[in-house]
Amino acid sequence: MKKFLLDYNLKVRLPVIIFVIATVFVITYYISYAERNSIGYAPSQPINYSHKLHAGSVQIDCKYCHTGVNFSRTANVPSVDVCMNCHSISRKDKPEIQKLTNYFENNTPLHWKRVHKLPDFAYFSHSLHVNKGIDCLNCHGDLKLMEVVTQVNSFTMGACLDCHRNPQNKIIDYHKLTNIKKGPEHCSACHR
Ligand code: HEC
Ligand code: HEC
Ligand code: HEC
Ligand code: HEC
Ligand code: HEC
Repeated sequence: MKKFLLDYNLKVRLPVIIFVIATVFVITYYISYAERNSIGYAPSQPINYSHKLHAGSVQIDCKYCHTGVNFSRTANVPSVDVCMNCHSISRKDKPEIQKLTNYFENNTPLHWKRVHKLPDFAYFSHSLHVNKGIDCLNCHGDLKLMEVVTQVNSFTMGACLDCHRNPQNKIIDYHKLTNIKKGPEHCSACHR
């Protein structure tokens, strides 16, 4: 009798429990998706890496680290050995650099938190924009002033189309660009 009751309770409760868990999962997923893709999103990173210092004061070219911008869809985030080109000699006494060196020596990849991310069904390419002379600044803000990478523009379909329709209003230094057309508005350009 006791065993029967137990089975019965479980049979009734299990679907309810599963439903509650699933609902909570879906809701948190969408909340965190919205947070990840909103203006002001600036997750803290495993190493306190500063663009203001490296791209601003030290004036390292963006392409030194983001090697893909001229020939591929993705910009690429550098691996630790790129940092070690300098930090096997520079600032070795600093705690953050020692942390970095540990990643390097133990061959552990550094998992930087992704800041800007489109859903997989949208097609974007860095090289198509960058090779036309459209500066990073137009989409990512001025990294040379950022201690921590922060999303400053929304990356919605509306935002892409705003610039594609009237690039002259959206691109800083538009008048300096030669050989630039309007961006495409047909669906298959971005949904392939
Ligand atoms: C010395 C290497 C280095 C240089 C130079 C550099 N970056 Fe970065 N960049 C990184 C690293 C490492 C990350 C990932 C960690 C972070 O977000 O802070 C990153 C992240 C980014 C991101 C965010 C990526 C994401 O997850 O969405 C953008 C945008 C970016 N960089 C743009 C630039 C621009 C623009 C310049 C030049 C003005 C530049 N970077 C110069 C190393 C570099
Ligand atoms: C081209 C050389 C160069 C490269 C490549 C480079 N750095 Fe640096 N980094 C420097 C210099 C120079 C400083 C020191 C600036 C100062 O303090 O005067 C510095 C400082 C730092 C500091 C601050 C140390 C402190 O506490 O004062 C951190 C953290 C750092 N770098 C992390 C990184 C990471 C992570 C990468 C790779 C994504 C990287 N660096 C790539 C040249 C470089
Ligand atoms: C026309 C707008 C635009 C311009 C210009 C642009 N980006 Fe991006 N960037 C994006 C978008 C959109 C994403 C997200 C792409 C995705 O999730 O597929 C992104 C993502 C990134 C990322 C992270 C992921 C990756 O590897 O692609 C980095 C790093 C980055 N950009 C750096 C740069 C640098 C450096 C420049 C200038 C040389 C630049 N971007 C110019 C729109 C732009
Ligand atoms: C700051 C302005 C600007 C923003 C923001 C921008 N684009 Fe563009 N994009 C352009 C311009 C201008 C062109 C056309 C360049 C040319 O061909 O001369 C272009 C071209 C393209 C093309 C190339 C079509 C082809 O095959 O030649 C694709 C795809 C594209 N953009 C996707 C996107 C997506 C997706 C976003 C949003 C995440 C976006 N763009 C945001 C300005 C922008
Ligand atoms: C310039 C690039 C671009 C063009 C052109 C474009 N889209 Fe999009 N679309 C995007 C991006 C980026 C997203 C993802 C970001 C977002 O949801 O706003 C998206 C999201 C969507 C979504 C997901 C729903 C939503 O709002 O989140 C649908 C549906 C869609 N697009 C349909 C279309 C149709 C239909 C066309 C043609 C009339 C079109 N798109 C043209 C870039 C584009």
